[in-house]
Amino acid sequence: MRLAFIGGGNMGEAMLAAILEKGLSTMDNVTVSDISESRRQDLKRKYGITVTGDNRRAVSGSEVVVLAVKPQQVAQVMSEINGGLDASQLVLSIVAGATIGALCRGLGYDCVARVMPNTPARIGEGISVWTATAGVSKEQRAQVAAILDVMGRQVYVADERYLDMATAVSGSGPAYVFLFAEALTSAAVDIGLPGDMARALALETILGSVRFMQSSDRSPAELRRMVTSPGGTTAAALARLEEGRFIELISRAVKAAYQRAKELGSSAK
Ligand SMILES: NC(=O)c1ccc[n+]([C@@H]2O[C@H](COP(=O)([O-])OP(=O)(O)OC[C@H]3O[C@@H](n4cnc5c(N)ncnc54)[C@H](OP(=O)(O)O)[C@@H]3O)[C@@H](O)[C@H]2O)c1
Repeated sequence: MRLAFIGGGNMGEAMLAAILEKGLSTMDNVTVSDISESRRQDLKRKYGITVTGDNRRAVSGSEVVVLAVKPQQVAQVMSEINGGLDASQLVLSIVAGATIGALCRGLGYDCVARVMPNTPARIGEGISVWTATAGVSKEQRAQVAAILDVMGRQVYVADERYLDMATAVSGSGPAYVFLFAEALTSAAVDIGLPGDMARALALETILGSVRFMQSSDRSPAELRRMVTSPGGTTAAALARLEEGRFIELISRAVKAAYQRAKELGSSAK
C-alpha cells in the first residue's frame, strides 16, 4: 500500500510502526511529511522511509493520505494539499475533533475516512473507531479496515457523533490508565516498597485485572464487589476512593475531553 503521512508525531509514528512491522506496506512505499527537520531525520533513521517537508509533494502518488497533525495545524495542512488530490486517493484523518464536513470543505475533496485511534496501536493493541463518507469505495473501506487491523481492534460507526465520544474514552483513555499506574506506583513507594517492585506490582495488577475482566461474564462492578469483603483491606481503600468521588471525577474528566473534542472541531471549521 502506498501511504503518505502528513505529521509524523506520536500517533503518526505509532501507526507507521504498526503498518511496517505487520508488513501492510514497506519502507519504499511510505512517505512522511513533517514540519520538523529533526523529526524527519529521526523517522528516516528508524524506519528507512522517505521524508519531506513538503506536504503537497508527499501526497502525490499515494493511495492513502493519513492526516496526523494536531487539530490546530490541520487548517493550514488542508489548504496546502487542497487541489493536489486525485480521484483515486483516500484521505484518512485521525485529527481529534476535525469533522468530516470540515475535512471535505478544507480539502475540497470528499473521499475521506475519519478515524479515532489510540496509542497502544504502536504494539497492535489499539482500538480505533471510524466512519467514512459515501465517496469512499468498498475497496478503500477495505484499505482502512486493513490499516486499523494491524493497529488492533476497530469499530465502524455510521453516525459520526460517536467519534468525539470515542476521542474522550479510547483516544485520550490510555493517558488515564497511565496516570492510574503512576498513582498506584507512587503510593506503593510511599508505603515502603522499592521503586522497581512498586512499578512491577502496579503494572501486573492492571494487566491481570484487565485480562480477568475480559475473560469473565461479570461486569466490572460485580467483579469489584466479589473481591471486596466487608471490613477488609480492599473495602478500606475503596471507601477512600468513594470519599474522593472517584467515579464522579472520572465522569467529569471524560466529559471535559468530550467538550474539548467538540471545541477543537469548531475551531477546525
Ligand atoms: N497522541 C494520541 O494519543 C492521539 C490519539 C488519537 C488521535 N490523535 C490525533 O492525532 C493527531 C496527531 O497527534 P500527535 O499526538 O501525534 O501530535 P504530534 O506528536 O504533535 O504530531 C504532529 C506532528 O506534525 C508536525 N506538524 C506540525 N505542523 C505541520 C505541518 N504544517 N505540516 C506537516 N507536519 C506538521 C508536528 O511538528 P511540530 O511538533 O514541530 O509542531 C509533529 O511532528 C492529533 O490530531 C490528535 O488529535 C492523537
